[in-house]
Amino acid sequence: MDSIIVTGNGPLNGDIPIAGAKNACLALMPATLLSEEPLTLTNAPRLSDIKTMTALLESLGAEVTKMQDGKVIAMASHGEISPVADYDIVRKMRASNLVLGPLLARMGHAVVSLPGGCAIGARPMDLHVDALTAMGAEIELKEGYLHAKTNGGLKGAVHELRFASVGATENVLMAATLAKGTTVLKNAAREPEIVDLADCLRKMGAQIEGDGTSTIEIQGVDRLHGATHPVVTDRIELGTYMLAPAFCGGEVTCLGGRIDLIGAFCEKLDAAGIEVTECARGLTVKRRGDRIKAVDIVTEPFPGFPTDLQAQMMALLCLADGTSVLEEKIFENRFMHAPELVRMGANIDVQGGVATVHGVEKMKGAPVMATDLRASVSLILAGLAAEGETIVNRVYHLDRGYERVEEKLGNVGAKIERITGQ
Ligand code: EPZ
Repeated sequence: MDSIIVTGNGPLNGDIPIAGAKNACLALMPATLLSEEPLTLTNAPRLSDIKTMTALLESLGAEVTKMQDGKVIAMASHGEISPVADYDIVRKMRASNLVLGPLLARMGHAVVSLPGGCAIGARPMDLHVDALTAMGAEIELKEGYLHAKTNGGLKGAVHELRFASVGATENVLMAATLAKGTTVLKNAAREPEIVDLADCLRKMGAQIEGDGTSTIEIQGVDRLHGATHPVVTDRIELGTYMLAPAFCGGEVTCLGGRIDLIGAFCEKLDAAGIEVTECARGLTVKRRGDRIKAVDIVTEPFPGFPTDLQAQMMALLCLADGTSVLEEKIFENRFMHAPELVRMGANIDVQGGVATVHGVEKMKGAPVMATDLRASVSLILAGLAAEGETIVNRVYHLDRGYERVEEKLGNVGAKIERITGQ
């Protein structure tokens, strides 16, 4: 297992390129199952989660070809497609559940393993099941697999999600493109990744309106054709690297960054004393003074403050002048980075879904353990400003969502290196 060693160093200066969005790409790739014609994605991120999705689609019978060092993914599912998504692959990545809607739409039946919980929560699939059932699917849980079938194909339906689930919205969006009739999905998720998926499906011939709002209307069509689509910029990688100069000073431009992708996050940066300037190349970020101010955070579905940036913001607020209160309202167990930050000298009190962070002047490097994707990068960020060496272990979590983190941060002046483990 690899580790990453970060040594507190001076200010960071320069450009950080932002890749295509992991969470958009993981929804776009299963869309290949909706058509027998090729679907090609450009600006794809090079991540282990993308490799996992590739393995899953190939296990179903799709052809996946990576080009340009993985930035282009050409897919085709014109052969025999299997409806069975096996536990061995699905258990590695919850987003594997995004083949459920496309398989039901394409084949009328699917057998998809439940992903099981993960470090940040139980993450059930009841919202996916309720919505697809409303569209005429019969779904039964047997031996850890969802057995889904439709008699005569999915039908359009009006359905309201109990919670604006990103994955459930994506499964319904893809399933409804080939359903008979019109589907109206209420309380739909509004994340930019939903809009990106809708844009791609429209290029394939789908009829979709309202994506990006809480009500999406999809008019089913008989078939979809192939398309080529660029993956939208990764707003979570963007927000993560925007914080780097806030930790240790300097000025960093995140290439390709757009404020509309992370409006709520930028409002909190402004309140904390971090200046964000939008320019043609992307977003330029610098700290206004020597120390950031405390701010309170509540995570919410888009356009609220993203849960995927909560850990990174907590790491920064550990050094703030004052006390910050962070409330995590999306996942039930997403403060596992807190005890690791405390090992570095942070002062954090966690009570259920609320973490109170009392800012300290300085943190000290320490060996720490990554527990999930975003927690691991929050420890790397903390290491940028800590005195001495921080050794982040189990960085396989990191490689799921951040391509070449040591290169991107090293290129702007961070002292960071990867130690390849056995
Ligand atoms: C997506 O997960 C993202 N993953 C997550 O990013 C992100 O944190 C999450 O959306 C929220 O924004 C991908 O897009 C691949 P949800 P998803 O369905 O779709 C509960 C990262 O770090 N829920 O919106 O699984 C669920 O337990 C990852 O990149 C149900 O109760 O999120 C959670 O508490 C982590 N029943 C909440 O809703 C369901 O059927 C949000 O889940 C589905 C979800």
